[in-house]
Order: sequence, then C-alpha cells, then structure tokens
Amino acid sequence: MTGTESSFIQASGIRKSYFQGAIETTVLSDVNLSMSSGESIALLGVSGTGKSTLLSILGGIETADSGTLHINGALLDMKSQDLADHRRHNVGFVFQFYNLIPSLTVFENVLAGLDAAGPLPKGARDKVLNSLDLVGLSNYERSFPSQLSGGQQQRVAIARAIVKNSPLILADEPTGNLDPNTGEQVLEVLLDQCRKAGSALIIVTHNPEISRHTDRSLTLIDGCVHPCVPA
Ligand SMILES: Nc1ncnc2c1ncn2[C@@H]1O[C@H](COP(=O)(O)OP(=O)(O)OP(=O)(O)O)[C@@H](O)[C@H]1O
Ligand SMILES: [Mg+2]
Repeated sequence: MTGTESSFIQASGIRKSYFQGAIETTVLSDVNLSMSSGESIALLGVSGTGKSTLLSILGGIETADSGTLHINGALLDMKSQDLADHRRHNVGFVFQFYNLIPSLTVFENVLAGLDAAGPLPKGARDKVLNSLDLVGLSNYERSFPSQLSGGQQQRVAIARAIVKNSPLILADEPTGNLDPNTGEQVLEVLLDQCRKAGSALIIVTHNPEISRHTDRSLTLIDGCVHPCVPA
C-alpha cells in the first residue's frame, strides 16, 4: 500500500525537533507510515526515541515541523481547525500518563471521551458503562481518579479512548502499569474493540510480546520507523 487514496493514515516525511535554549534536538527526522483502517501496529523503540511524540502528531495533539499527514486521503492542515476536528472526530487517545481529570468521577472522565457538550446524549450512559465494564471497572463509576490504583486509572484511560469507537485509537503504553494477566485482558479488549469498530490501532509498547497480537510491528530508531523483523 503506497498511495494516500488507499490508506487511512499516510504520514510522509514527518520531522520534529525540540529546542532547549539554543540547542535543537531532532526527535523525528523522517517518519513515513501508511496504515489502513482496521489495521493494528505495535510501535517499539527505546526510551526517548520519540514514540509518544509521534503518537501526539498522528493524533493532532502536536504539530510536526515539516512533512504531511493525510487522513482518508485528505491532507490535514496542521495550522487550522482541521487539527481540532481530527482530534475530535477521528482519535481516541490513551495517554502514557493517563491524563485523567482529577475533579471528575470515573464516569465523567470516560464520558469526556464522547466529546459531547450539553445534556447527556441518548445512549451515552450505556456506552460509558459498557466501556467501563470491558476494562473491568463496573463498580467504579462514582470513584475519583485519586481513589484508584495506577492500573485502575490506566484502565479508565483506555475506557475513555474506546468509548466513541473512533476510527483511530492511539495507545501509549496502555498496559505498562498492569500485571501480566490484566494487561493481557486489556490488550484483548483494545484489539477486539478496534476489530469490531474497524478502527486503526497503534500501541506503543516496550513489551515485544504485544507485537505477537498486532498485524505488524515497527520500531523507531534514529528518528525513522522501520519494520520489525519477527524473532
Ligand atoms: N515538550 C518537549 N520539550 C522538549 N523536549 C521534549 C518534549 N517532549 C519530548 N521531548 C524530548 O523528545 C524526546 C522523545 O520523547 P518521547 O516522549 O516522544 O519519547 P518516548 O519514545 O515516548 O520515550 P518513553 O519510552 O520513555 O516514553 C526525548 O528526548 C524528550 O526529552
Ligand atoms: Mg513515551
């Protein structure tokens, strides 16, 4: 698959640097990535190589310095409302550090994933409760994040990302804080939900085992993504 027409995501020549004072560090130098709807990718790479940065760019949270991102064949203008629309309509994001809102209950945090302003839309309550059930947190809807363990908070973050059946789910180390059994179950939930909804899924992980469950795996080295050779 090479053309923008056939890909759900087509990222070309993505470059991103950060400045600390006058010192520029290039994190992503030339990322090229094509992905079709419903495809799952494990993204590996040692700490600090730019995995979270790349996910943020694909999810419209950060902008690239140069390069292009096509979604469904349409060029995403990184300097316009396009980016907010992309985040809103296309993306469910599991943040590496969860980013739950401390003053909201678990239910309200997951509801935020539906991005619905105003009164509770029809069916919203059931969608939220179903997502919480899928990650094994049925009894926690009234709890606040501070009352949960790290792994439970991580699962709330996953419920929030999948509640809307977005076409693109970006999960940054979604099982990093879970014991192996719970991690396996949550991974299955993520993969299963994406299969059912036809969502493309990128899972950032340090666990090569996860690559066994995804369609393919990539590794980020020196600012570029490369296919992983199966062990
Ligand atoms: N907002 C920022 N300002 C300056 N430097 C940043 C910023 N965000 C990330 N970086 C730098 O970019 C590099 C890549 O960071 P990133 O978080 O993308 O790595 P990562 O591959 O996700 O690492 P990890 O596996 O530890 O989560 C790091 O050197 C980091 O210090
Ligand atoms: Mg990271």
